[in-house]
Amino acid sequence: MEDYVIEMLHITKEFPGIIANDDITLQLKRGEIHALLGENGAGKSTLMSVLFGLYTPEKGVIKKDGKEVKISNPNDATDLGIGMVHQHFMLVDIFSVLDNIILGSEPSKFGFLTKEEARAKVIRLSEKYNLKVDPDAMVEDITVGMQQRVEILKMLYRDNEVLIFDEPTAVLTPQEIDELMKIMKELAAEGKSILFITHKLNEIMEVADRCSILRKGKYIGTVDVANTTKEELSSMMVGRNVKFAVDKAPANPGKEVLKVENVCVKSKIHSNDSVHNVSFNVRAGEIVCIAGIDGNGQTEFVGALTGLDDISSGKITLCGEDVTKKSIRYKNTHGMSHVPEDRHKHGLVLDYTLEENMILQRYFQPAFQKGGLIKKKEMRQYSDRLASAFDVRSGQGARTIVRSMSGGNQQKAIVAREMDRDHELLVAVQPTRGLDVGAIEYIHEEIVKERDNGKAILLVSLELDEVMNLSDRILVMYEGEIVGEVDPKQTTLQELGLYMSGAKRDNGKEAN
Ligand SMILES: Nc1ncnc2c1ncn2[C@@H]1O[C@H](COP(=O)(O)OP(=O)(O)OP(=O)(O)O)[C@@H](O)[C@H]1O
Ligand SMILES: [Mg+2]
Repeated sequence: MEDYVIEMLHITKEFPGIIANDDITLQLKRGEIHALLGENGAGKSTLMSVLFGLYTPEKGVIKKDGKEVKISNPNDATDLGIGMVHQHFMLVDIFSVLDNIILGSEPSKFGFLTKEEARAKVIRLSEKYNLKVDPDAMVEDITVGMQQRVEILKMLYRDNEVLIFDEPTAVLTPQEIDELMKIMKELAAEGKSILFITHKLNEIMEVADRCSILRKGKYIGTVDVANTTKEELSSMMVGRNVKFAVDKAPANPGKEVLKVENVCVKSKIHSNDSVHNVSFNVRAGEIVCIAGIDGNGQTEFVGALTGLDDISSGKITLCGEDVTKKSIRYKNTHGMSHVPEDRHKHGLVLDYTLEENMILQRYFQPAFQKGGLIKKKEMRQYSDRLASAFDVRSGQGARTIVRSMSGGNQQKAIVAREMDRDHELLVAVQPTRGLDVGAIEYIHEEIVKERDNGKAILLVSLELDEVMNLSDRILVMYEGEIVGEVDPKQTTLQELGLYMSGAKRDNGKEAN
């Protein structure tokens, strides 16, 4: 008999308008890495939230070590040794790293908090697994990569034996992903059992022992990874073959749409600039990419460009007009679209409906407003049109509260809105983060179409495949500066890596 640590049998979970999990069975062997694959909205996070006690299923049974258990809330899950790293982290921003890790299982002796012991344990774990964190940093000040390490340490601190990772690699850099893969293999070798959600088929091929596939809430099958291929996985998942390469003709750049001159941004953390003397341009009809390892100033640069953050010096020209000091709304209505890095903080109002989110930057325009009142019918029609064009799936269509949508569908909604809005420049930061392979193929095609229709595209991406596949020119950012410009057709991943790690730079050459 197989040694299953967890069995989820015939689980059904419904939400208004949708059966998110329809009679799903998933069996996790002890010590295995079990990948869970499925399109955006297929029901992966829901199934894992059922296992973690966040949702109670209408039907089905969960067994732990062969015995039926009731998991009504996350405390029950923790007691059973089940931990979860969520797709959208659940950390307390204004607490320190250490406080977040111990939250809910604070160590105490005679009723007093013994934080020093906790600190020692956290440091021990972080060294053992090479999970670098600063225990005293505030969570709001640390990178997403570090936030994720905090979430992982949280599970290890509780000695969890079943570890759920909901799309852990969507927010990581290639280097961090390699690290995480190593850590997962180590944990599995120690006997921990891992459920791993990812949209990246290479990762599944690399670390997973088995993979279960869901489609539209239904269980499709489970395969041994050693006996399958990426092509088989993707066709099981979307029901058709997926192209992995982007088809595009050479770019035919026209007039200059964006000009960035000597832009500097002061760091909020240290005394140096986080963006230093950045200059480049983007012309109509080309896709320019800023590549680099996360944390090298890309976020701060985009903040300054779009108006989310202050710029300390330099000049930004959009369609011939100096917009350096202009407001976000001004830029939004004068040619700039922006798919932001953090979809929850800057992309959506989570407690608004999908249709309200679709007109966030335009509700005051005559198309959607008359006499101070929103034109409800127009708003709905507009939202429905975008949702169907970009295949944004949700339980209740335009009326769905965005918070309840799956992560990938939230992302598709933002991309749809920003691409459809009147613009000359699209600033797309990690536009395909968290999307399934079918949706990525679609978004990439749309970006190329935009380019061919004469839009200027500034892509900021950590995904090297995306950078190489989609860009017409690549600028590499390192420690806040543009250290080189390469032609994707002439360069190699190795050369790009040298620039990204600071080992190579174009001396004295103006990146332009
Ligand atoms: N709390 C909720 N309330 C209402 N509907 C929900 C809720 N959570 C999920 N859903 C719906 O259930 C479906 C499955 O969502 P789920 O988040 O499980 O998808 P997923 O497979 O994790 O997708 P992704 O890859 O995009 O993260 C979606 O259609 C979503 O809109
Ligand atoms: Mg999900």
